[in-house]
Amino acid sequence: MGDIIMKAERLVKTYGRVVGLDGVNFELHRGEVLAVVGDNGAGKSTLIKCLTGAEVPNDGTIEFEGSPVRISRTQDARDLGIETVYQSLAVSPALDVASNLFLGREVRRPGVLGSVFRMMDTKGMRERARQELSELGITTLQDVTVPVENLSGGQRQAVAVARAAAFGSKVVFLDEPTAALGVRETNQVLDLIRRLKDNGVSVVLISHNMPQVFDVADRIHIQRLGKRAGVVTPESHSMTDVVAIMTGAAAA
Ligand SMILES: Nc1ncnc2c1ncn2[C@@H]1O[C@H](COP(=O)(O)OP(=O)(O)OP(=O)(O)O)[C@@H](O)[C@H]1O
Ligand SMILES: [Mg+2]
Repeated sequence: MGDIIMKAERLVKTYGRVVGLDGVNFELHRGEVLAVVGDNGAGKSTLIKCLTGAEVPNDGTIEFEGSPVRISRTQDARDLGIETVYQSLAVSPALDVASNLFLGREVRRPGVLGSVFRMMDTKGMRERARQELSELGITTLQDVTVPVENLSGGQRQAVAVARAAAFGSKVVFLDEPTAALGVRETNQVLDLIRRLKDNGVSVVLISHNMPQVFDVADRIHIQRLGKRAGVVTPESHSMTDVVAIMTGAAAA
């Protein structure tokens, strides 16, 4: 297994009197798929938000590639090579596939057309979008000029994941990417996750689906009541064991 690419210690996040994270440690290895599981409200999304700049923790430290980092905005995470697909689907329905891929990092046309007149390099972005999608093995999206609202749920999710994966990311966080998907579409997203891993990218997958977790994860981080209750592997523990740790019926 690879070295540790990202690490957090004693993360605390409170919302008024509600404790979202209660001193959570987190380690992510290079090129692994780490599942994060736990009951509703266990702090999974809060953990991901604190690691990706969507929320700022009240306390605790984060290291990336061995150096302490401050991630106070999502752009800080992006600058480090960390991309995130949040639980609420992160695509804009009215925009086409290519525009969604480049949302927030639009490419301007060269020269004064771009710098002064702020004109977009639409052709270049479409070209690059086609290339990225085919490199990711997404073959169900023939036409990158189609508005995302016309795509199926699975294709939309594929666009969100592709967006996260397309820009040379080192780490991709996915918060319940398959929760709303059918079997075939879920398998597409799982294939994408495996492909990212094959390319050396670290993937953090939040999921309630135990068979799915046991299918793709190298390690499993178990959250319970705002704390990390344990870290196990599909080899060391059964699904029943993991559920028991999640619910507090057993210790890790
Ligand atoms: N913006 C917020 N304001 C107030 N409380 C919040 C906020 N976000 C999260 N919380 C609280 O923090 C705790 C952890 O929530 P979080 O969303 O991280 O859970 P989760 O493990 O992702 O749950 P789920 O499986 O339902 O997605 C919960 O008690 C929740 O109510
Ligand atoms: Mg959540």
